[in-house]
Amino acid sequence: MSIFIGGAWPYANGSLHLGHVAALLPGDILARYYRLKGEDVLYVSGSDCNGTPISIRANQEGTTVKAIANRYHEEFEACFQELGFTYDLYTRTDSEAHHQAVQDLFLTLQANGYLYTKKIEQAYCPVDKQFLPDRFVEGICPVCGAKARGDQCDNCSTILDPLELLEKQCKICGTAPEIRKTEHFYYQFSAFQKQLEHFVEQAEAAGTWRDNALQLTKRYLQEGVPDRAVTRDLPNGIDVPIAGYDGKKIYVWIEAVAGYYTASLVWAQQNGQALEKWWPARTRAYYVHGKDNIPFHTIIWPAILMGAHNEALPTHIVSNEYLTLEKRKLSTSQNWAVWVPNFLERYDADSLRYFLTINAPENRDADFSWREFIYSHNSELLGAFANFVNRNLKFIAKSFDGNVPQAPIDVAIYHRVAVLYEKAGQLIENGHLKQALELIFEDIRAGNRYFDEAQPWRTLTEAPEQCAKTLATCVFLIENLAQLLQPFIPFACEKLKRMLAIEANGWQMISTLPAVVQQVQPLYERIDVAKIDEELQRLQNNIK
Ligand code: MF3
Ligand code: ZN
Repeated sequence: MSIFIGGAWPYANGSLHLGHVAALLPGDILARYYRLKGEDVLYVSGSDCNGTPISIRANQEGTTVKAIANRYHEEFEACFQELGFTYDLYTRTDSEAHHQAVQDLFLTLQANGYLYTKKIEQAYCPVDKQFLPDRFVEGICPVCGAKARGDQCDNCSTILDPLELLEKQCKICGTAPEIRKTEHFYYQFSAFQKQLEHFVEQAEAAGTWRDNALQLTKRYLQEGVPDRAVTRDLPNGIDVPIAGYDGKKIYVWIEAVAGYYTASLVWAQQNGQALEKWWPARTRAYYVHGKDNIPFHTIIWPAILMGAHNEALPTHIVSNEYLTLEKRKLSTSQNWAVWVPNFLERYDADSLRYFLTINAPENRDADFSWREFIYSHNSELLGAFANFVNRNLKFIAKSFDGNVPQAPIDVAIYHRVAVLYEKAGQLIENGHLKQALELIFEDIRAGNRYFDEAQPWRTLTEAPEQCAKTLATCVFLIENLAQLLQPFIPFACEKLKRMLAIEANGWQMISTLPAVVQQVQPLYERIDVAKIDEELQRLQNNIK
């Protein structure tokens, strides 16, 4: 089976923070899981190097858009690698191939009759001498009265036209923008209303979208999807490939989301693979992102695929809610954030992957606090899992010279593990990653209880056969954990596989025991709880 997984494209205008990881991590878990299962996975994403966020940063620093994009793209690549993300291709939207393919797509949409031009009024900042992109107009939401950006209101989730905002201000300089006329291409989203309704009904029946995505999308459809401008007067981005529209750029709505397709195209070319394998109707196509990106993936991208007569619509929507930091909303401008490069200097990627999965904002916002993070590492990852491994392997090293006792495996635990592959696999496929990990950890706790109750340190002399059985059973559990946990905490699983010289690699129960344990070393170290205050202090010191 071929599986497509698309991770959202972060803007290359600043470092990644933990909120990005919380939103994107499910993609890597899915990719690793399906590869283990032996499916043909294509997992792509890239840096969003177009649009105004980057040109503003470049202006502020007196450098070029390219320089900013390069800096953050390289940083993102390094972070994703350290976090263990296994993209098949992580590319960027300023690549030649992406520009070319997006322009082709634009022309296809035009040829298919879904684009038309219209003269409209747009916000123009007389100080910055430019038309303002939607999210650079700020003001009051006309629907709920909260402070909102021109593209959408975070408070009531209404998609806005920037001109609808009350008390408009330029985000760059604070001036009230002028309204100027300009001509743009509109995409006929309204032509797909019925098709989109049908698409969402199918998704609802299949139960493969997160509930937040389903509810929000149904609401948009109830309100009716309006046609929207899909070009902008922007300084950097992809040129509209039509004469007479010089300087106009294709907007993020068509352009960034099309990256899923353009990246697949490049990957297929580079690897001599058939693109059609991942882009026919009814391939499993997972889209993984945070909740602010839901309409991109459930309305806009599907409507564009429909307009391009491409039937490979999204099938699974994995859209996490937000991650708060110490119970407060993350704010990059106030520097209320934990930045990934800093985090990785001091902590293991596995610890973060574990925490952000077991406390994932799957159904409601979740909080990252240093206290919870450090306790989760010490008492669960280290306390339950790593200690279970360590106490068993150490015991075997010491009392059996490192030779794993080849004894029968406890029947109840054997069955538990067989069921675990089945159940955890189902949960992962349906995007319930937190529940899958919880289930695996229940068995780890059961393993610890089994070890305690069997008391191998006593049976070693009193009932050696029983002792051998206890350890064989625990090693059986451990070697299977090295696979079951691989999608979630890959680094420890790698180590574990080396210590036990496990060659098997699949989402399938291993039932033969390894012969020896080699060079037992702890999987993780305890984090000093004094770090809690240290980290909280650091956050406070850095706040702007
Ligand atoms: N870079 C844009 C954002 O962060 C779009 C990301 S998701 C995409 O909002 F799929 F549209 F690329
Ligand atoms: Zn301005």
